[in-house]
Amino acid sequence: MAQESSWIDVTGNGVGYNLSHFTYPEHYSEDITDVIIPNGLIIDRVEKLARTIIEQYDGRLVICCVLKGGHQFFADLVSFLKKFTNKDGKHLPFSLDFIRLQSYCNDESTGEVKISMTEKELRDLEGKDVLLVEDIIDTGKSMVTLLDCLKRYNLKSVKVASLLLKDTPRSNGFVPDYVGFLIPDKFIVGYCLDYNDVFRDLDHICTISEIGKKKYAK
Ligand code: HPA
Ligand code: MG
Repeated sequence: MAQESSWIDVTGNGVGYNLSHFTYPEHYSEDITDVIIPNGLIIDRVEKLARTIIEQYDGRLVICCVLKGGHQFFADLVSFLKKFTNKDGKHLPFSLDFIRLQSYCNDESTGEVKISMTEKELRDLEGKDVLLVEDIIDTGKSMVTLLDCLKRYNLKSVKVASLLLKDTPRSNGFVPDYVGFLIPDKFIVGYCLDYNDVFRDLDHICTISEIGKKKYAK
């Protein structure tokens, strides 16, 4: 029988595929070194996360996209959730919401987390089941700051789905409820993960090269 695990671990030695095996925007040929997670594998994993999530809620769910990086994962997750039914043959009723978090400049966290949601928008979440959808948990600081802020608004429940969890000694120990992949401690881009807003048009998750870091540095 297949072994159950909370995520796919892509941290091992030798992880990563040679770029020559894939298609990708030619303007990035010098800027990335290898493909860590091909787009097809991301989509298959998002489908499975949607299947898991749909069995764990009954009642209406507010699915909240953490922008900007979370948008691609959110869009793909939501389209699977719209299609699927749970084991009782029921669709999951849900509403959508959006929040913007910002803390990175170049490949470093600035240490200051900005949350863009008005007091009214936050108060509207009271009494609701909320699922926050994020692209990556790296140090965990942004998500813990957001969760601390939400504590004041009496949500019925709050869970976190993150496509990626970084295996890093800088982590504050936060582990999301749903994780797609555990990734190595490298700065990665693609599938909407950015470096100073660049690489959002790359479909695979890749490691950025030193050339790429210099070229797009602020
Ligand atoms: N890549 C892109 N954005 C990020 C990362 C990363 O590795 N970590 C935190 N935000
Ligand atoms: Mg993010």
